[in-house]
Amino acid sequence: MSHNVLITGGSGYLGGDLLARMGAANLPPYRKLYASVRTAEQADGVRQYGAEPLFFNLKDESEIRTTVIDREITVVFYLIDAVQYEPPLFFIQALSEVKKATGRTVHFLHTTGAKLFSSHADAPTDRPLLDTDPQLYEIQKSQNPKLNVAREGVRTNCAVVEQAEKYGVRGYVFVPCIVYGKSKGFGEPVSTLRQIYMIVRAAKTLGRVYRVDSARPEWPVCHIADNTAAYIELLRKILTDENPSHGKNGYYLASSGSIAWDDLYDAIAAALVKRGVIADGSVTLASEKNVEDMGTALGVPKEMVPVQLGGKCTLSARRAREELGWKPAYPAEHILEAADGEVEWVLEHLRD
Ligand SMILES: NC(=O)c1ccc[n+]([C@@H]2O[C@H](COP(=O)([O-])OP(=O)(O)OC[C@H]3O[C@@H](n4cnc5c(N)ncnc54)[C@H](OP(=O)(O)O)[C@@H]3O)[C@@H](O)[C@H]2O)c1
Repeated sequence: MSHNVLITGGSGYLGGDLLARMGAANLPPYRKLYASVRTAEQADGVRQYGAEPLFFNLKDESEIRTTVIDREITVVFYLIDAVQYEPPLFFIQALSEVKKATGRTVHFLHTTGAKLFSSHADAPTDRPLLDTDPQLYEIQKSQNPKLNVAREGVRTNCAVVEQAEKYGVRGYVFVPCIVYGKSKGFGEPVSTLRQIYMIVRAAKTLGRVYRVDSARPEWPVCHIADNTAAYIELLRKILTDENPSHGKNGYYLASSGSIAWDDLYDAIAAALVKRGVIADGSVTLASEKNVEDMGTALGVPKEMVPVQLGGKCTLSARRAREELGWKPAYPAEHILEAADGEVEWVLEHLRD
């Protein structure tokens, strides 16, 4: 029972679900569970799962250092920001100090996103890209995305692998994809980062659903319960010191398979027609003006619209199944059946 575990982002969509499901996961014993929070309400929220809330600025190096070292935290699951470069490295350095002081193995999990393994980030998409590919780190290293945000995100993924190796920390790059389903967390019920939310929001403003790609690209998907199960199975292996693959072999995509964006658009359009939100459920290719209007509706520059609502990603999940015994409960096509309920739920929570 040697580990102290810190979960960050517990008020979020993914982190909230993780905290909420950890209790019933029959995890091996650990010493203490901490969760980072930013408000008193969030502190109450995480206490209900037996986590001690920690108030600290996750972007402040000295606060991270002090918090991690003073509490001898040995496992950090970072679920707040896929892109920003420094915070994961602050955690890795702090964990290496804990290792020096205690002799324990220390672990850092960085939550990235499938976008950074997609056409948007200059990843290869002409073949399946396995998360067990021993060249995946080199592939990431050779990607040269045009978009600044993708460039920064890929750089962060690579730096996590490199710095963890350098400082003797076991590093994991966990890759969520299109995650759907209700979070069991206590925080925001609808993450504004989620693709279904954005498709609905854009359609509501423009009066119809538009596709942003012409070539019927596919993207990996995952029900939130399965996504969380992958986090939990990795944590289980860490807590039992089973040495799960890490470093250059530490990429874990949580996905039960891929679907075509076009099929998702169709399902969402049908759900919106059924509720009288739009009149025409046929999905057509967006013009430049449509893309501009979608950007305005989503509050993002027009260049980001195809990045948020389309693209091709051939990353395929092998490692969690093969090494963690992870078995997703929901097949990829389930998202198309679930789209009706998702749309209902997003419409209930859409603020404007
Ligand atoms: N959801 C998906 O489908 C998906 C897919 C691929 C990748 N990801 C990545 O996974 C991560 C989590 O996604 P999510 O959907 O759970 O996001 P989310 O619902 O927006 O949650 C983000 C969490 O991070 C916290 N946070 C944000 N900035 C912070 C800061 N400066 N200091 C401390 N805490 C901060 C938020 O706290 P507050 O509640 O206080 O704001 C919240 O707990 C993100 O990096 C996202 O890019 C998500």
